Amino acid sequence: MTQAGDFLGSKNEKEVIIGMRVTLIGICAGVAGVIVLGYLGHSTAVEPHKSSADTRQRLVLTHAQRDMMLTEMRLMLTSVSGIIQGLATGDLPAAEKAARASGIGKAVDVDPHIKTRLPQQFLELGMHTHRGFDMLADQIQAGGSQADILRELATLTGNCVACHAVYRLDEAR
Ligand code: HEC
Repeated sequence: MTQAGDFLGSKNEKEVIIGMRVTLIGICAGVAGVIVLGYLGHSTAVEPHKSSADTRQRLVLTHAQRDMMLTEMRLMLTSVSGIIQGLATGDLPAAEKAARASGIGKAVDVDPHIKTRLPQQFLELGMHTHRGFDMLADQIQAGGSQADILRELATLTGNCVACHAVYRLDEAR
């Protein structure tokens, strides 16, 4: 009985030791897992930024300036849409009004604070685009042909595409 008890006892001891080893391996694996996941998690949070295919030049504005600029952008898209709709339905006064809404009088980059933060090329392209809307409004008002108006609109939207291909806006932190 004693022998059996000893045997059982030593068996239990072995099981305890094996159990402890298993637990230790588990802890090690767990720690290693946390380290690996932490590393992976960290690199996934950083990687998209690092390896982003977006190589456009970042222009840094304040929160308010960026808001203003994007509001102006959406207004220009509304104008483009209004011009096309006006032409499509034959409502030329509506097309002219839509074009004038994004004329040079609406340019926010004339704001001296924004101006100092933007490259000259950006400012010129922006001004050129606003003048294009005015020219388009004049053309529609003067009863220009549909083909001429369309050609002007094509040049104008080419400016949108050209600028968007080169620049993006970031906020200063
Ligand atoms: C001189 C440069 C320039 C010109 C010209 C320009 N844009 Fe933009 N636009 C930008 C930049 C920079 C952004 C921000 C893009 C970004 O951060 O990814 C932008 C963003 C926009 C947005 C997104 C607005 C938002 O709320 O996120 C719209 C819409 C837009 N532009 C429309 C137009 C249209 C339509 C035209 C032409 C009639 C135009 N833009 C011409 C520079 C320009």
